Amino acid sequence: MPILLKNVQTIRSSEITPEDVFLRRREFLAAAGLALGATTAGMLPGSPARAAVPPLGAVSKWPESTIETQTPEEQATSYNNFYELGTDKGDPKKNAARLITDPWSVEIAGECGKPGKYTLEDILKPHSNEERVYRLRCVEAWSMVIPWAGFPLGDLLKRFEPTGNAKYVQFETLLDPERLPGQQYPVLQWPYVEGLRMDEAMHPLTMMVVGMYGKLLPNQSGAPLRLVVPWKYGFKSIKSIVKISFVEKQPDTSWNLSAPREYGFYSNVNPNVSHPRWSQAKERRLDGESKGLSALFAEKRDTLMFNGYADEVAGLYSDLDLKANF
Ligand code: MTE
Repeated sequence: MPILLKNVQTIRSSEITPEDVFLRRREFLAAAGLALGATTAGMLPGSPARAAVPPLGAVSKWPESTIETQTPEEQATSYNNFYELGTDKGDPKKNAARLITDPWSVEIAGECGKPGKYTLEDILKPHSNEERVYRLRCVEAWSMVIPWAGFPLGDLLKRFEPTGNAKYVQFETLLDPERLPGQQYPVLQWPYVEGLRMDEAMHPLTMMVVGMYGKLLPNQSGAPLRLVVPWKYGFKSIKSIVKISFVEKQPDTSWNLSAPREYGFYSNVNPNVSHPRWSQAKERRLDGESKGLSALFAEKRDTLMFNGYADEVAGLYSDLDLKANF
């Protein structure tokens, strides 16, 4: 979230995604072989999650997906927050090839019966993928509608037999300043960390994501494995995960460590609770129409409580003061 680092003028100009970026994206896709489908793309250098990740194969459709207009793939994969690959929205795509994702492993630690280091294949093999079209709402007041592919995080967590002391789950991104050059700068404390309460982590909407738009995740979107928690601000959706720990105490999260008054642990999308420096009541949907200069003038829509997932998740917070626990 560059808002901590830049003035308003800079944010506004960085939100313009010029036409030539979109055109270059096409050339980039062709050059990297990404447009050829997961199997071929899986063998080329700089492409997302190679041999370690099985091709997406058959992905079933989730019947509850939103039917809102989807954000075009080009926009969703060239306008990103991934500070380890740069702080401008276009940087993650530009620097994506630096992130080598094969081999990849995930360490499972803490309060569980089956801790250990698992290869990515071990993690993914027992799970079949489902396409779920979810909204992603970022704290900077833009949102996208994206077809994600993956499986419920809870199905994965159960396999490691969390104990009764596992009250929270903490996630960590790869720490490697060579592969993630943004880590050479102290923009945040590295590695990027995030956390969920156990019931949030086990909620059926919380997704372990391996693909989007019918292909494996591109690196800038968090290959080979990222989280998507659709009722929370986007920064909870941690990318390129290498460690998952079951813990008893509420874990640190990167943005809370960086600016505790601005970013709380829960970070539920909530139009009634303003960020200390701006309102969260409205959002601007990135839908392909609003690009270039027109994005600045696109009509804003009302932000929905819990990003539109209130029926499913409001019950998790019935005992919580959401103003105090933002
Ligand atoms: N994960 C890591 N490791 N590093 C990051 O900088 N940015 C977060 C989140 N996950 C971030 C991250 C933020 S602020 C947002 S809004 C979402 O990723 C953006 O996801 P997207 O690029 O797929 O839209």
